[in-house]
Order: sequence, then structure tokens, then C-alpha cells
Amino acid sequence: MEKQLEALKQTFCEELGHARKVDDIEPMRVKYLGRKGALTSILRQMGTLSPEERPRMGALSNALKTFMEDALAKKSEELMRTSKVSGIDVTLPGRAPRRGGIHIINQVIRELEDIFLGLGFTVASGPEVEDDYHNFQALNIPEHHPARDMQDTFYFQQGILLRTHTSPVQVRVMEKGVLPVRIIAPGKVYRCDSDVSHTPMFHQIEGLWVEEGITFVHLKGVLYEFIHRLFGKDVPLRFRPSFFSFTEPSAEVDIGCIMCKGKGCRVCKNSGWMEILGCGMVDPEVYKYVNIDPEKVTGFAFGLGIERIAMLKYGIGDIRMFFENDLRFLEQFA
Ligand code: DAH
Repeated sequence: MEKQLEALKQTFCEELGHARKVDDIEPMRVKYLGRKGALTSILRQMGTLSPEERPRMGALSNALKTFMEDALAKKSEELMRTSKVSGIDVTLPGRAPRRGGIHIINQVIRELEDIFLGLGFTVASGPEVEDDYHNFQALNIPEHHPARDMQDTFYFQQGILLRTHTSPVQVRVMEKGVLPVRIIAPGKVYRCDSDVSHTPMFHQIEGLWVEEGITFVHLKGVLYEFIHRLFGKDVPLRFRPSFFSFTEPSAEVDIGCIMCKGKGCRVCKNSGWMEILGCGMVDPEVYKYVNIDPEKVTGFAFGLGIERIAMLKYGIGDIRMFFENDLRFLEQFA
């Protein structure tokens, strides 16, 4: 029996030496240590031994059992470390999940919201699928008015369209009939246009303050504060007379060119100034559509393009970059 144990140990060691995969180990355990395994069948002969021999054989077979168990465990661990288990290399370092970030446009929207919330404004919103009445008519842009051609509109059926600006939110907020109104309205707008400085969808933020006694001075105060908080206290501003159907008087606001500090460069077309927003006092014609008495209250409005602000702030030359979802671009702002 001692010889049998010896021989078993030898075949076991040889076979274990040939094991190449973790999957080879379990069949070996069954073959050598299982209930119908090789060791068990040797132990069955115990009964034929003399009482004096039994303890020694018992000890020897126990030792072999422990030896084989240890050897199998060790080999299994070694194979686990060095071999591939069903196509997965468990020794490779883990792959961390990619961390998401807030899109640069949303970051700028949040920054603008923070500034205006700090100035006492609340955030309002309106539908992107808008009707002709709110997008044009109630903003004093009647049918056949040339201002409609300036904004290449996406139409659905008659009278329904994708809003071309956030200004219809002005009408929707005033329609509710609750005064005073002091809101901003950021959101998506759509125009059929596409090149380095235009995309069919882009973002605007609208502002509206209507209350008794509001004047152009309040307009200037709010916009100076806003631009200084956004671009720094040293940035010069200028108001240029302009025209919008829904404001009178109207102005466009320029800031000293961020790139060349006003010296003149390619970005500001050598003027030293960059246009950043449109604004004005709400035209009394607009109040008629929302049942507000222009003899009692006055107000101002402004509107600006978010992408334009982001491009100026971060020196981005092509508006299409915001929407191409190239992570190499987006990750710079994560
Ligand atoms: N809605 C205008 C546009 O998209 C921007 C604008 C100009 C909004 C003047 C205003 C404003 O509220 O007062 O071009």
C-alpha cells in the first residue's frame, strides 16, 4: 500500500505539471481526491492491513491528501495569475469609467443665470415649438415685415414654427398679467443657417424687466453690472443706436475687443469693438398684445447669444465645435 501511495503521488505530480489552465484543476481534484477518486480507492484497502500497520498508513495517506490539496490550490492560484480565464485577462489593471462633465454651453448658461439671480431676476422658459403669434406678431413683427426674412425660420404647418429667438418668452411671461416682471429666459433657438459662425440650433438668453418707473438708466445699470461680472471690471462698453421692432429706443452693446484689448485685430475686424447683445425699452405696441397699460409701467429687454459669449470668453473660433461632440474639445472644459 505504501508503494501505491508513492506511485499515486508521482502520477499526480506529473499530471499537475502539465496543467495549463485553471479549468484543468477541478477535474484533477475529482480524479485524485473525489469520493470515487484514486486516493479513496487505496484507502478502501485499509481493512486488509494489520492493526499495527494501520496508523502508519493512515498518517501517510493523510499526509498525501494534504499534499495534493495544497499543490492543487497553489497551482490553481498560479494559473489564475498567469493565464486567461475564458478570454478575460484577470491580471490586467481595471479600466476606470469615463467621468462626464457639464457641456461648456451649459456651464456658460449657469454662469449667466448666477449673475442675473444675484441681480434679483428669476428664470423663466417657453416652448421651442412656438406659434407665429408669439414669435413674431406680438413682438410687433407683422406678416411681410422684413425682420421675418432676417431670421430664416423653420416652419411646420401654417402658423407653427421653431422659435427663432427667446423673445417670445417675453410675451408669454407678460401674458400672465402679473407685475412686476423681472426674468431671464435661456434656451435653444433655431434658424435655417449654417457656417463658421452660425448653426441651425443655438442658444440665447433673454432678459425682461417691467415695472413702474423703469428707465434706460436701469437698463444700462443692469447691463454694465452683468458685463463687468462676466468679463471683468476693466472691459469698456458702448451703446450704439439700433433697431428692433419690439423695443424703442433700441441699442446694440459692444465691448472692447477681448482678444486685442481694443487695438484692432482679425476677431474685431480692426474696429477694437465686439458686438455682444441687443436691447431696448419695451415698445408700447408690444404691451397692447399683453394687456399692459404703457402709461402705468415701463420696461426694458435684452437678448444675447450664448455661443457668442462662450467663443469670446474662451477664444473659440468656430461655433460648430460646440455641437460636434469631439471629446478632445469638450474635455478641455470639463
Ligand atoms: N431677439 C433678438 C434677436 O434674436 C435679440 C434681442 C434684441 C432681444 C433686442 C431683445 C432685445 O430682448 O431687446 O436678434
